[in-house]
Amino acid sequence: MGNLSGKIAIVTGGASGIGYAIVQRLLNANVKVAVADLNREKLKEMEAAHKGKVIGCVTNVTKEEDIETLVQKTVDAFGGLDYAFNVAGASKAGAIVDQSEEDWDFTVDLCLKGVFLSLKHEAKYMKEHGGGAIVNVASLNAHVPMFYGAAYSSAKAGVEMLTKNAALELAQHNIRVNTILPGLVATPLTSGLTNVEAINDAYMERIPMRRAGNPDEMAGPALFLVSEDASYVNGASLIVDGAWAVSGYPDLSKFM
Ligand SMILES: NC(=O)c1ccc[n+]([C@@H]2O[C@H](COP(=O)([O-])OP(=O)(O)OC[C@H]3O[C@@H](n4cnc5c(N)ncnc54)[C@H](O)[C@@H]3O)[C@@H](O)[C@H]2O)c1
Repeated sequence: MGNLSGKIAIVTGGASGIGYAIVQRLLNANVKVAVADLNREKLKEMEAAHKGKVIGCVTNVTKEEDIETLVQKTVDAFGGLDYAFNVAGASKAGAIVDQSEEDWDFTVDLCLKGVFLSLKHEAKYMKEHGGGAIVNVASLNAHVPMFYGAAYSSAKAGVEMLTKNAALELAQHNIRVNTILPGLVATPLTSGLTNVEAINDAYMERIPMRRAGNPDEMAGPALFLVSEDASYVNGASLIVDGAWAVSGYPDLSKFM
């Protein structure tokens, strides 16, 4: 992978799971990182553990003023912004006929608007300062629906299309924007499902590699996409799923 050393990155949702693994890989590559998350305690801990290399920014990605502050703090602390990883996400599940407007808004605001706002302000800075590279985290659910995940799947499909629009608009400013579509990854987000043996078995039936990915297996592809090795990769969707996409989503309806 091309040399990332000396660069500066933002990672939203960087206090847990996939975002946290991306932060660790960036630090190993000698990249300075602004970690944006709601988890104040974890941010403090990360900042203390990596003094001068990490700043923790308490950020709600659904609030535009928080994102503007995040970009400003990153530039003030480290002197620029080269890469951004828009990872923060979560969902409230529900059958379409029962899902409340509030739960729909929570999911779509966080997973889609949160990426839009992050992308907007990261790209605005990069456009004025010579360019950069951005990775948005969508999901295999951008392509494959799941029972009771209409809001999440719709938002993630939106992230994929938003990424393509961004690549189209921003290529002229030397900014590349790509997305990764993780399959099942072992993180706090999915442990509630995978800790139930029958549900986990249903997933494993469909995943040809017969295991969930680990967060670091998402971080590698994410770093590749910002690196010079991916200098002609733009507007792309990289599925990272142990071949799940080729076998279809499990029927989870019997567990609800
Ligand atoms: N784990 C999987 O199987 C999987 C699969 C496909 C896609 N994804 C996507 O990957 C991303 C990361 O998921 P994960 O599994 O690492 O989850 P996670 O729960 O481990 O981490 C998500 C992080 O986002 C933060 N966050 C939540 N709401 C926020 C907000 N409003 N503003 C800022 N930060 C916020 C949380 O505090 C947490 O630190 C999400 O977008 C998720 O949809 C995960």
